[in-house]
Amino acid sequence: MIEQKIVILTGAGISAESGIDTFRASGGLWENHRIEDVATPQGFAANPALVHEFYNARRRALETAAPNPAHDALARLQNSAAHDVFIVTQNVDDLHERAGSTVHHMHGELLSVKCAACDWQWESRSDIDITARCPACQTRASVRPDIVWFGEMPYGMEKIEGRLAACDLFVSIGTSGAVYPAAGFVQMAKAFGARTLEINLDPSEGSAFFDETRRGKAGRLVPDWVDEILS
Ligand code: APR
Repeated sequence: MIEQKIVILTGAGISAESGIDTFRASGGLWENHRIEDVATPQGFAANPALVHEFYNARRRALETAAPNPAHDALARLQNSAAHDVFIVTQNVDDLHERAGSTVHHMHGELLSVKCAACDWQWESRSDIDITARCPACQTRASVRPDIVWFGEMPYGMEKIEGRLAACDLFVSIGTSGAVYPAAGFVQMAKAFGARTLEINLDPSEGSAFFDETRRGKAGRLVPDWVDEILS
């Protein structure tokens, strides 16, 4: 079997069967919160307590969530070493890690916080609020969720682009293709000659760009695909 360089992009849909809310489905996170209030630097500046509560609730929800067969299958693929697998996720949960994968979080992580004054980052599993103090520079009220908000630059774009330029296969799992730069990865991969596969419950905004799309739940389709690619 020839080793392939595979880049896998995941979105909220891969964690849906673990009970984690997606964003744009009916009843999703953006139906109950205004993006500008809880997912922008301006929203945090205007009402940091509201933003802390939004992320504290999502962080607490992780305690009762568990990886599902889709996360487990990607970990099996990555750890098989049969192929060179780079997983970049838009998700801020830790379910890929708990399944045994190494992933790059381009939109940050719920279990990480940072100081807006000195950029120090540290792990926090507990709630944070406006009284939190940065352990590095001791500034108070500068502690924020380590989440990439709208209008901010996602983490590691050069590294991601380098992987997309070199991959043989680009797979997108559980994302609506609504938010750039992630939504443009399929076109970048195609421009460099990669084959492209989408696994998603519904048609996404980028479905037409993919060589192949598989419609359905990640918990069933991803293990089936991993079995195929490892056989
Ligand atoms: N299996 C596969 N796909 C699923 C499942 C499932 N069980 N459940 C939902 N989906 C699909 C939906 O069809 C939808 O296309 O997952 C996608 C989720 O889309 P969004 O809710 O828009 O989430 P996502 O694409 O990850 O959002 C991207 O937007 O708000 C920002 O930063 C936030 O990272 C997020 C980014």
